[in-house]
Amino acid sequence: MEKYQKYFNTIESELSKIEYAASPDGLYAPVRYELSLGGKRVRPLLALLACELFGRDCRHALNAAVGLEIFHNFTLLHDDVMDKADVRRGKPTVHKVWDENRAILSGDAMEIIAFRYIARTEAPHTGAVIDWFLKTALEICEGQQLDMEFESRGDVTEEEYIEMIRLKTAVLLGGALKIGAIIGGANETDADLMYRFGESLGLAFQLQDDWLDVYGDPARFGKKIGGDILNNKKTYMLINAQRRADGADAEELSRWLTATQYDPAEKIAAVTALYNRVGAGELCLQQVDAYSRRAIEALRRVGVDDAAKQPLYDLSTALMKRDH
Ligand code: IPE
Ligand code: IPE
Ligand code: MG
Ligand code: MG
Ligand code: MG
Repeated sequence: MEKYQKYFNTIESELSKIEYAASPDGLYAPVRYELSLGGKRVRPLLALLACELFGRDCRHALNAAVGLEIFHNFTLLHDDVMDKADVRRGKPTVHKVWDENRAILSGDAMEIIAFRYIARTEAPHTGAVIDWFLKTALEICEGQQLDMEFESRGDVTEEEYIEMIRLKTAVLLGGALKIGAIIGGANETDADLMYRFGESLGLAFQLQDDWLDVYGDPARFGKKIGGDILNNKKTYMLINAQRRADGADAEELSRWLTATQYDPAEKIAAVTALYNRVGAGELCLQQVDAYSRRAIEALRRVGVDDAAKQPLYDLSTALMKRDH
C-alpha cells in the first residue's frame, strides 16, 4: 500500500485532528481508541482516488472520506459486540477494554461524528453526498440484520449470502467511490460505473474476509481465526460445504451446526478440515477472483483516460492479495 502513502497520511492526519468535547471522557476514549488502532483506510482511499480520477483535487473529498472511515469504524464497534469478537487489529475490542454499553454508546457517538463530516461536503454536492451516505448507512444495517438472522438458519442460499454481503459490506465501498466521483464532478453514467466497480470490489473483499477468517494468519489478520465458524456464519464456504458434503461429512457438519456444548478449538479444527475435504476454501477464492474481475471491467468502462485509473487498478490488485 506504499503507493498510497500520501493519501493515507492525509487521512491519518485528518483523523488525528478530530475535536472531541472535553467530557465525558468515558464516551470519547473508546472512539479515540478505535480510530488509533490503524486499519487499511480502504474506504477513504477509494473516495479520494475517485475524486482525483475526474480531475479534481482530492482535498475536496476529504471531509466525506473521513466521515466514511469514522462510519466504518462505528460499524466495527457494534459488529464486534454482535459477533462476540474479542480482538480487532491485533488489540482487544472496545467491549472487552470497556463494556458492551460503552461499545453501543461510543459507537452511536461515532456515527454522529461521521455524519457531521459527511455534511461538511461543499456545495453543490452536499445534498447528493448526504443522500448516498444515508442510503448506504441504512443498507448496512439491513445487511447486518440478515447476517445475524442467517446464523440460526440452515437453508441460506448462495444468492441470499451474496445479497447479505452486498448490503453489509459492498455498498460502503461502492458508496465511497460514488461519493468521491460525485465530488470530483463525474457525470451520472461514470458515477454509476464507479459504484458498480465498488460493489463488485466489496463482494470480493467480504468473500476474502470470510476466507481469511478461516485460513488467515492471526498475527497479520489482527482478528481471531475461526470466529465465523463458531458463530455458524453462513459464509460462501459453509453454504458450499453444506451443499457438497455427503454421508459422514454431512452428518458431522450438521452435528457441529447444532451443537451447544463443545470445545471451540475442536469445532474450528473439525469444520476447517471439512472445508478442506470438500474444497470450500478454493471455491471461495475463485469467487474472490470472479468478483475482482467484474470490478475491473466496470472501472474499465468509466469514460476517462485509462492511464488515470492506474491507482485504482493497483489498489484493487493489492486488495485481492491482502492478508489482513
Ligand atoms: C472489516 O473491514 C470489516 C469488513 C467489511 C470485512 P476492513 O478489513 O476494511 O477493516 P480495517 O478498517 O482495515 O481494520
Ligand atoms: C463486517 O462483517 C461487516 C460490517 C462491519 C458492517 P464481518 O463481521 O465479517 O467483519 P469482521 O470480520 O468482524 O471485520
Ligand atoms: Mg459481522
Ligand atoms: Mg465481525
Ligand atoms: Mg469477517
